[in-house]
Amino acid sequence: MTVIISATLPEDLLAQVKAIAPVIVVPAGTPPQEVVPASDRHAVTGMLCTLRTRVDDALLDAFPNLKIISNYAVGYDNVQIDRVNARNVLVCNTPGVLDAAVADLTFGLLLCLTRNMVSLHEFVRAGSWKKGPAPLAIDVAGKSLGLLGMGRIGKMVAKRAKAFDMDVCYHNRTRDEESESQNLARYVARDELFEKSDVVSVHVPLSDATRGSVGARELGLMKTSAYLINTSRGPVVDETALIEVLRSKRIAGAGLDVMVQEPLDADSPLCGLPNVVLQPHVGSATVETRRAMIALATDNLVRALRGETPKAMVNAHVWGGNIR
Ligand code: DGY
Repeated sequence: MTVIISATLPEDLLAQVKAIAPVIVVPAGTPPQEVVPASDRHAVTGMLCTLRTRVDDALLDAFPNLKIISNYAVGYDNVQIDRVNARNVLVCNTPGVLDAAVADLTFGLLLCLTRNMVSLHEFVRAGSWKKGPAPLAIDVAGKSLGLLGMGRIGKMVAKRAKAFDMDVCYHNRTRDEESESQNLARYVARDELFEKSDVVSVHVPLSDATRGSVGARELGLMKTSAYLINTSRGPVVDETALIEVLRSKRIAGAGLDVMVQEPLDADSPLCGLPNVVLQPHVGSATVETRRAMIALATDNLVRALRGETPKAMVNAHVWGGNIR
Protein backbone atom coordinates (compact mmCIF):
# COMPACT_ATOMS: atom_id res chain seq x y z
CA MET A 1 0.00 0.00 0.00
CA THR A 2 1.09 3.57 -0.73
CA VAL A 3 -0.10 6.83 0.79
CA ILE A 4 -0.48 10.26 -0.80
CA ILE A 5 0.39 13.20 1.42
CA SER A 6 -0.96 16.42 -0.06
CA ALA A 7 -0.37 18.79 2.87
CA THR A 8 2.66 20.15 4.69
CA LEU A 9 3.36 17.43 7.23
CA PRO A 10 5.88 18.07 10.04
CA GLU A 11 8.83 15.65 9.92
CA ASP A 12 7.82 13.70 13.06
CA LEU A 13 4.33 13.06 11.70
CA LEU A 14 5.65 12.20 8.24
CA ALA A 15 7.92 9.64 9.89
CA GLN A 16 4.86 8.02 11.52
CA VAL A 17 3.23 7.56 8.14
CA LYS A 18 6.44 6.39 6.46
CA ALA A 19 6.81 3.73 9.15
CA ILE A 20 3.65 2.12 7.78
CA ALA A 21 3.63 2.80 4.06
CA PRO A 22 5.65 4.40 1.25
CA VAL A 23 4.63 8.03 0.75
CA ILE A 24 4.07 10.03 -2.42
CA VAL A 25 4.15 13.75 -1.72
CA VAL A 26 1.78 15.84 -3.84
CA PRO A 27 1.77 19.66 -3.55
CA ALA A 28 -1.33 20.78 -1.60
CA GLY A 29 -4.13 21.70 -3.97
CA THR A 30 -2.70 19.87 -6.99
CA PRO A 31 -5.00 17.05 -8.10
CA PRO A 32 -3.02 13.89 -7.21
CA GLN A 33 -4.14 12.24 -10.46
CA GLU A 34 -2.14 14.91 -12.31
CA VAL A 35 1.05 14.04 -10.42
CA VAL A 36 1.06 10.35 -9.55
CA PRO A 37 2.05 8.22 -12.55
CA ALA A 38 -0.60 5.75 -13.73
CA SER A 39 1.72 2.86 -12.87
CA ASP A 40 1.74 3.86 -9.16
CA ARG A 41 -1.95 4.59 -8.72
CA HIS A 42 -3.25 1.09 -7.99
CA ALA A 43 -1.04 0.86 -4.90
CA VAL A 44 -2.56 3.99 -3.32
CA THR A 45 -4.82 3.06 -0.41
CA GLY A 46 -4.66 6.22 1.69
CA MET A 47 -4.48 9.98 1.27
CA LEU A 48 -4.05 12.92 3.64
CA CYS A 49 -5.14 16.19 2.01
CA THR A 50 -6.32 19.73 2.61
CA LEU A 51 -9.56 21.42 1.64
CA ARG A 52 -7.88 22.33 -1.63
CA THR A 53 -7.99 18.76 -2.90
CA ARG A 54 -11.23 18.09 -4.71
CA VAL A 55 -12.33 14.54 -4.04
CA ASP A 56 -14.64 13.62 -6.92
CA ASP A 57 -15.11 10.83 -9.43
CA ALA A 58 -12.01 11.93 -11.39
CA LEU A 59 -9.82 11.38 -8.32
CA LEU A 60 -11.63 8.23 -7.18
CA ASP A 61 -11.44 6.71 -10.69
CA ALA A 62 -7.69 7.41 -10.80
CA PHE A 63 -7.11 5.66 -7.44
CA PRO A 64 -9.47 2.65 -7.51
CA ASN A 65 -7.98 1.11 -4.33
CA LEU A 66 -8.22 4.24 -2.19
CA LYS A 67 -9.81 3.29 1.14
CA ILE A 68 -9.12 6.20 3.50
CA ILE A 69 -9.06 9.96 2.95
CA SER A 70 -7.91 11.96 5.95
CA ASN A 71 -8.95 15.58 5.53
CA TYR A 72 -6.76 18.15 7.29
CA ALA A 73 -9.84 20.23 8.21
CA VAL A 74 -13.08 19.79 10.07
CA GLY A 75 -15.11 20.82 7.01
CA TYR A 76 -15.19 18.31 4.18
CA ASP A 77 -17.06 20.20 1.49
CA ASN A 78 -14.10 19.44 -0.82
CA VAL A 79 -15.26 15.81 -0.75
CA GLN A 80 -18.25 14.66 -2.80
CA ILE A 81 -19.56 12.58 0.04
CA ASP A 82 -22.11 10.63 -2.00
CA ARG A 83 -19.35 9.57 -4.39
CA VAL A 84 -17.02 8.35 -1.61
CA ASN A 85 -19.90 6.61 0.16
CA ALA A 86 -20.81 4.80 -3.06
CA ARG A 87 -17.27 3.40 -3.14
CA ASN A 88 -16.98 2.70 0.60
CA VAL A 89 -14.07 5.11 1.01
CA LEU A 90 -13.66 6.27 4.60
CA VAL A 91 -13.35 10.04 5.16
CA CYS A 92 -11.85 11.39 8.39
CA ASN A 93 -11.68 15.00 9.59
CA THR A 94 -10.42 17.09 12.52
CA PRO A 95 -13.36 18.14 14.72
CA GLY A 96 -12.97 19.74 18.12
CA VAL A 97 -9.37 20.85 18.05
CA LEU A 98 -10.02 24.09 16.16
CA ASP A 99 -13.20 25.29 17.87
CA ALA A 100 -11.56 27.80 20.21
CA ALA A 101 -9.37 29.30 17.48
CA VAL A 102 -12.30 29.80 15.11
CA ALA A 103 -14.42 31.23 17.94
CA ASP A 104 -11.61 33.65 18.83
CA LEU A 105 -11.40 34.89 15.24
CA THR A 106 -15.18 35.24 15.10
CA PHE A 107 -15.14 37.35 18.22
CA GLY A 108 -12.19 39.33 16.89
CA LEU A 109 -14.22 40.19 13.81
CA LEU A 110 -17.16 41.14 16.01
CA LEU A 111 -14.98 43.57 17.96
CA CYS A 112 -13.35 44.94 14.81
CA LEU A 113 -16.77 45.71 13.37
CA THR A 114 -18.50 47.12 16.44
CA ARG A 115 -15.48 49.13 17.57
CA ASN A 116 -14.42 50.23 14.05
CA MET A 117 -10.95 48.90 14.76
CA VAL A 118 -9.79 48.58 11.17
CA SER A 119 -10.94 52.03 10.06
CA LEU A 120 -9.62 53.61 13.27
CA HIS A 121 -6.25 51.99 12.66
CA GLU A 122 -6.24 53.73 9.28
CA PHE A 123 -7.47 56.93 10.98
CA VAL A 124 -4.36 57.01 13.16
CA ARG A 125 -1.99 56.04 10.36
CA ALA A 126 -3.39 58.70 8.03
CA GLY A 127 -2.79 61.44 10.65
CA SER A 128 -6.53 62.13 10.95
CA TRP A 129 -6.29 62.06 14.75
CA LYS A 130 -4.55 65.45 14.65
CA LYS A 131 -7.48 66.92 12.73
CA GLY A 132 -10.25 65.95 15.14
CA PRO A 133 -11.73 63.25 17.34
CA ALA A 134 -12.35 59.76 16.07
CA PRO A 135 -15.93 58.77 15.26
CA LEU A 136 -17.69 56.89 18.05
CA ALA A 137 -18.20 53.14 17.85
CA ILE A 138 -20.86 51.05 19.61
CA ASP A 139 -20.87 49.00 22.80
CA VAL A 140 -20.83 45.22 22.63
CA ALA A 141 -22.32 44.71 26.12
CA GLY A 142 -26.09 44.52 25.99
CA LYS A 143 -26.17 43.90 22.22
CA SER A 144 -27.70 40.73 20.82
CA LEU A 145 -25.68 38.07 19.02
CA GLY A 146 -27.58 35.62 16.83
CA LEU A 147 -25.77 32.36 16.14
CA LEU A 148 -26.91 30.56 13.02
CA GLY A 149 -25.77 27.06 13.92
CA MET A 150 -25.10 25.86 17.45
CA GLY A 151 -22.48 23.17 17.01
CA ARG A 152 -19.13 23.05 18.76
CA ILE A 153 -17.91 26.36 17.30
CA GLY A 154 -21.23 28.16 17.80
CA LYS A 155 -21.12 27.22 21.48
CA MET A 156 -17.56 28.51 21.87
CA VAL A 157 -18.62 31.82 20.32
CA ALA A 158 -21.58 31.95 22.71
CA LYS A 159 -19.24 31.54 25.69
CA ARG A 160 -17.10 34.43 24.52
CA ALA A 161 -20.15 36.60 23.91
CA LYS A 162 -21.49 35.86 27.39
CA ALA A 163 -18.21 37.01 28.90
CA PHE A 164 -18.77 40.31 27.06
CA ASP A 165 -22.32 40.56 28.51
CA MET A 166 -24.03 40.05 25.17
CA ASP A 167 -27.53 38.65 24.84
CA VAL A 168 -27.02 35.43 22.88
CA CYS A 169 -29.64 33.60 20.85
CA TYR A 170 -29.29 30.80 18.33
CA HIS A 171 -31.10 28.92 15.63
CA ASN A 172 -30.24 25.33 14.82
CA ARG A 173 -31.95 22.39 13.13
CA THR A 174 -32.12 20.69 16.52
CA ARG A 175 -32.55 22.44 19.86
CA ASP A 176 -29.52 22.46 22.11
CA GLU A 177 -31.19 21.99 25.46
CA GLU A 178 -27.91 21.76 27.33
CA SER A 179 -26.82 25.23 26.16
CA GLU A 180 -30.27 26.59 26.93
CA SER A 181 -30.26 25.15 30.45
CA GLN A 182 -26.79 26.62 31.02
CA ASN A 183 -28.15 30.02 29.89
CA LEU A 184 -25.60 30.10 27.12
CA ALA A 185 -28.12 30.99 24.43
CA ARG A 186 -31.86 31.26 23.84
CA TYR A 187 -33.43 29.39 20.94
CA VAL A 188 -35.23 31.61 18.42
CA ALA A 189 -36.96 30.98 15.10
CA ARG A 190 -34.70 31.49 12.08
CA ASP A 191 -36.35 34.70 10.84
CA GLU A 192 -36.36 36.17 14.34
CA LEU A 193 -32.62 35.60 14.56
CA PHE A 194 -32.06 37.74 11.46
CA GLU A 195 -34.66 40.35 12.46
CA LYS A 196 -33.59 40.97 16.04
CA SER A 197 -29.84 40.36 16.27
CA ASP A 198 -27.34 43.20 16.34
CA VAL A 199 -24.76 40.74 15.04
CA VAL A 200 -25.55 37.55 13.13
CA SER A 201 -22.75 34.99 13.03
CA VAL A 202 -22.84 31.99 10.69
CA HIS A 203 -21.69 28.60 12.03
CA VAL A 204 -23.27 26.01 9.76
CA PRO A 205 -21.29 23.64 7.54
CA LEU A 206 -21.55 23.93 3.76
CA SER A 207 -23.91 21.36 2.26
CA ASP A 208 -26.54 21.28 -0.48
CA ALA A 209 -29.03 22.38 2.17
CA THR A 210 -27.02 25.37 3.40
CA ARG A 211 -25.49 26.64 0.12
CA GLY A 212 -26.80 30.19 -0.43
CA SER A 213 -29.11 29.78 2.57
CA VAL A 214 -28.24 33.24 3.90
CA GLY A 215 -29.65 35.07 0.90
CA ALA A 216 -31.31 38.34 -0.04
CA ARG A 217 -34.39 37.41 1.99
CA GLU A 218 -32.44 36.78 5.22
CA LEU A 219 -30.19 39.82 4.72
CA GLY A 220 -33.30 41.89 4.06
CA LEU A 221 -34.67 40.90 7.45
CA MET A 222 -31.63 42.28 9.29
CA LYS A 223 -31.58 45.65 11.05
CA THR A 224 -29.80 48.42 9.15
CA SER A 225 -27.50 48.73 12.18
CA ALA A 226 -26.63 44.99 12.22
CA TYR A 227 -23.46 43.17 11.20
CA LEU A 228 -23.01 39.79 9.55
CA ILE A 229 -20.04 37.57 10.39
CA ASN A 230 -19.11 34.44 8.46
CA THR A 231 -16.27 32.18 9.59
CA SER A 232 -17.81 28.93 8.29
CA ARG A 233 -17.86 28.66 4.48
CA GLY A 234 -18.28 31.46 1.93
CA PRO A 235 -20.95 29.79 -0.23
CA VAL A 236 -23.36 29.50 2.73
CA VAL A 237 -23.97 33.23 2.16
CA ASP A 238 -25.23 34.52 -1.20
CA GLU A 239 -22.24 36.79 -1.81
CA THR A 240 -23.89 38.82 -4.57
CA ALA A 241 -26.81 39.62 -2.26
CA LEU A 242 -24.38 40.43 0.56
CA ILE A 243 -22.38 42.84 -1.61
CA GLU A 244 -25.62 44.55 -2.57
CA VAL A 245 -26.79 45.09 1.04
CA LEU A 246 -23.33 46.28 2.05
CA ARG A 247 -23.13 48.72 -0.89
CA SER A 248 -26.56 50.14 -0.19
CA LYS A 249 -25.83 50.21 3.57
CA ARG A 250 -28.94 48.07 4.05
CA ILE A 251 -26.85 46.46 6.83
CA ALA A 252 -24.02 48.11 8.76
CA GLY A 253 -21.20 45.80 7.78
CA ALA A 254 -19.74 42.33 7.51
CA GLY A 255 -16.76 40.42 8.86
CA LEU A 256 -15.72 37.59 6.56
CA ASP A 257 -13.06 34.95 7.01
CA VAL A 258 -14.47 32.93 4.12
CA MET A 259 -15.62 33.80 0.62
CA VAL A 260 -17.14 32.01 -2.37
CA GLN A 261 -13.85 32.19 -4.28
CA GLU A 262 -10.69 31.63 -2.25
CA PRO A 263 -8.15 33.12 -2.47
CA LEU A 264 -10.22 36.27 -3.01
CA ASP A 265 -9.22 38.45 -5.99
CA ALA A 266 -8.04 41.89 -4.93
CA ASP A 267 -10.49 43.35 -7.46
CA SER A 268 -13.47 41.64 -5.80
CA PRO A 269 -16.13 44.21 -4.83
CA LEU A 270 -15.70 42.98 -1.24
CA CYS A 271 -12.19 44.46 -1.16
CA GLY A 272 -13.50 47.92 -2.08
CA LEU A 273 -16.25 48.16 0.52
CA PRO A 274 -15.44 50.28 3.59
CA ASN A 275 -17.88 48.41 5.82
CA VAL A 276 -16.24 45.00 5.41
CA VAL A 277 -13.43 43.42 7.43
CA LEU A 278 -11.76 40.55 5.59
CA GLN A 279 -9.54 37.69 6.70
CA PRO A 280 -7.90 35.06 4.45
CA HIS A 281 -9.68 31.93 5.84
CA VAL A 282 -7.53 31.82 8.96
CA GLY A 283 -10.03 30.73 11.62
CA SER A 284 -7.89 27.75 12.54
CA ALA A 285 -4.57 29.25 11.51
CA THR A 286 -2.61 29.38 14.75
CA VAL A 287 0.56 27.41 15.42
CA GLU A 288 -1.05 25.36 18.20
CA THR A 289 -4.33 24.67 16.46
CA ARG A 290 -2.81 23.75 13.12
CA ARG A 291 -0.43 21.38 14.89
CA ALA A 292 -3.36 19.75 16.71
CA MET A 293 -5.27 19.46 13.43
CA ILE A 294 -2.42 17.92 11.44
CA ALA A 295 -1.63 15.57 14.34
CA LEU A 296 -5.26 14.41 14.42
CA ALA A 297 -5.38 14.07 10.62
CA THR A 298 -2.19 11.98 10.72
CA ASP A 299 -3.48 9.88 13.61
CA ASN A 300 -6.72 9.20 11.72
CA LEU A 301 -4.74 8.07 8.68
CA VAL A 302 -2.26 5.94 10.61
CA ARG A 303 -4.98 4.23 12.65
CA ALA A 304 -7.00 3.41 9.53
CA LEU A 305 -3.92 2.05 7.76
CA ARG A 306 -3.28 -0.19 10.76
CA GLY A 307 -6.88 -1.39 10.75
CA GLU A 308 -7.65 0.49 13.97
CA THR A 309 -10.71 2.70 14.25
CA PRO A 310 -9.80 6.36 13.59
CA LYS A 311 -10.79 8.97 16.15
CA ALA A 312 -12.82 11.17 13.79
CA MET A 313 -14.78 9.59 10.96
CA VAL A 314 -17.22 11.49 8.75
CA ASN A 315 -18.87 8.39 7.24
CA ALA A 316 -18.24 5.79 9.95
CA HIS A 317 -20.79 3.44 8.39
CA VAL A 318 -18.35 2.54 5.60
CA TRP A 319 -15.57 1.64 8.05
CA GLY A 320 -14.88 -2.05 7.88
CA GLY A 321 -11.41 -1.96 9.37
CA ASN A 322 -9.79 -3.78 6.48
CA ILE A 323 -7.61 -1.43 4.48
CA ARG A 324 -4.83 -3.74 3.34
C1 DGY B 1 -11.75 23.65 8.61
O1 DGY B 1 -11.09 22.90 9.31
O2 DGY B 1 -12.77 23.28 8.01
C2 DGY B 1 -11.26 25.04 8.47
O3 DGY B 1 -12.10 25.82 7.73
C3 DGY B 1 -9.88 24.98 7.83
O4 DGY B 1 -9.15 25.99 8.34
